[in-house]
Amino acid sequence: MSVRPGLWSLLWLCVFMAVAACSQSDDQAAVATAPPQWTDEELTVIRSLSLRNLPPLPVSASNRHADHDSAAKLGQQLFFDTRLSANGKVSCASCHQPQQDFTDGLPRGVGIAAVDRHTMSLIGVAYSPWLFWDGRADSLWRQALGPLEDGREHGGTRTRYAHVIAKHYRDAYADVFGTTAELDALKDLPPSAGPLGNLDELTAWEQMDADDRDAVNQVFANIGKAMEAYQRRLLPRPSRFDDYVEALAANEPDRANALLSPDEQHGLRLFIGAADCTHCHNGPLLSNNDFHNTAIATADEFTLGEGRLRGVHLVKQGEFSCLGTYSDAEPDDCMELRYVKDKGAELVSAFRTPTLRNVARTAPYMHHGNFSSLEQVVAHYVTAPDSVFGKSELLPLEVDADQQKQLVAFLHTLNEKPAEVADAWRASPTAAE
Ligand code: HEC
Ligand code: HEC
Repeated sequence: MSVRPGLWSLLWLCVFMAVAACSQSDDQAAVATAPPQWTDEELTVIRSLSLRNLPPLPVSASNRHADHDSAAKLGQQLFFDTRLSANGKVSCASCHQPQQDFTDGLPRGVGIAAVDRHTMSLIGVAYSPWLFWDGRADSLWRQALGPLEDGREHGGTRTRYAHVIAKHYRDAYADVFGTTAELDALKDLPPSAGPLGNLDELTAWEQMDADDRDAVNQVFANIGKAMEAYQRRLLPRPSRFDDYVEALAANEPDRANALLSPDEQHGLRLFIGAADCTHCHNGPLLSNNDFHNTAIATADEFTLGEGRLRGVHLVKQGEFSCLGTYSDAEPDDCMELRYVKDKGAELVSAFRTPTLRNVARTAPYMHHGNFSSLEQVVAHYVTAPDSVFGKSELLPLEVDADQQKQLVAFLHTLNEKPAEVADAWRASPTAAE
């Protein structure tokens, strides 16, 4: 016998500490044949990730129409309407395509021209207090106004959009917002004017009366508010993982094991344990909605590399914030914005933790879409490179090649199952009719 004494003591340790030490060795298998035995602590974490624990939607204090069905229906029509663009060809759905879980499959979104960042999924988006990869919007209605005025996305202007509403949506607008006063004020206003337009459009905007600008801003804000009401209805649906948690909770191991393979279950164990993914990807949407430097920003991103530092600077400014002129909130309702953390080295190159629901279907990944596969994403976490700007929060992981496969296998269990009853909010309004 040439077994070294050290190994003997390890074996004994294994016998006596069956749960901690021996179950670890399951993870080492090339392809796991047996599912893990969960500890009570692990079961608690696993349950916290289930959709069953999704709380009610947070209140949108700055938008009093956020929960009105009529506003959501108007918002759905606007979301799919290409007339809300400079060239008549771009709608929100050009990039947020319902059949692709509201993403576009591209590294970076393309509207009138290409943008710098990867299109985010919109499923469950209403749960986040901050929108965009850098969180530069504090409400969904304010967020929607960004792409509308961005020259590379919809490329239009505030008066252009107000005219579209006056011409095509007058009745629906009156129904939702209870007035058409601001639409009536539009009659003699320029066809295209706005603060972010080209020089002619900007000049035309500056030449308008303050009252007229205010009326146009009101219509513009209301477009956003209808779109917010719509996007609040894009709620996550259960995945195979959620069914698995339900089976575990019901103490039905056979059903649980039929739902997730041993490898997928070992991937889950790594996700909540040795790989520490739940440090940031936690809760039923697998996101803490917070900002972290995970060494994704690249040297060629220049100012965009600032991430949250720039985002938090932008979110505090502007007439469309929770504290701005067009908000329906009382100042006390805007605590998140008033007390937002706006200083600190950890905000440099920090980006928002995205949801991992449907993640296997929404490649490519990260805010600049440079990773084309989940294997690449997991390899990034394992090596944990330094950040080009600021300091990365990641530490290298002791996770071997087989375990990396198991992590990827687990991520595949987070895809929504097909809907049992068609969800009209997930389709274009014309397709739904
Ligand atoms: C050109 C493609 C494109 C168009 C058109 C577009 N988006 Fe986006 N969307 C993106 C990209 C890219 C991001 C991330 C941008 C960033 O963080 O800088 C994004 C982010 C978002 C977010 C934030 C999601 C989150 O989790 O923070 C929402 C909400 C959203 N878009 C809704 C809309 C709405 C509503 C419209 C129409 C008014 C729209 N988008 C038009 C590409 C697009
Ligand atoms: C320190 C917080 C943190 C930890 C720990 C973490 N993530 Fe992330 N994750 C993020 C952030 C932030 C992003 C977006 C980064 C960016 O684009 O700049 C992200 C992005 C992702 C994406 C891409 C999603 C998409 O839609 O683009 C995947 C997949 C992912 N993480 C999986 C994991 C896995 C698996 C682990 C564990 C090995 C993990 N994450 C650990 C914060 C974290």
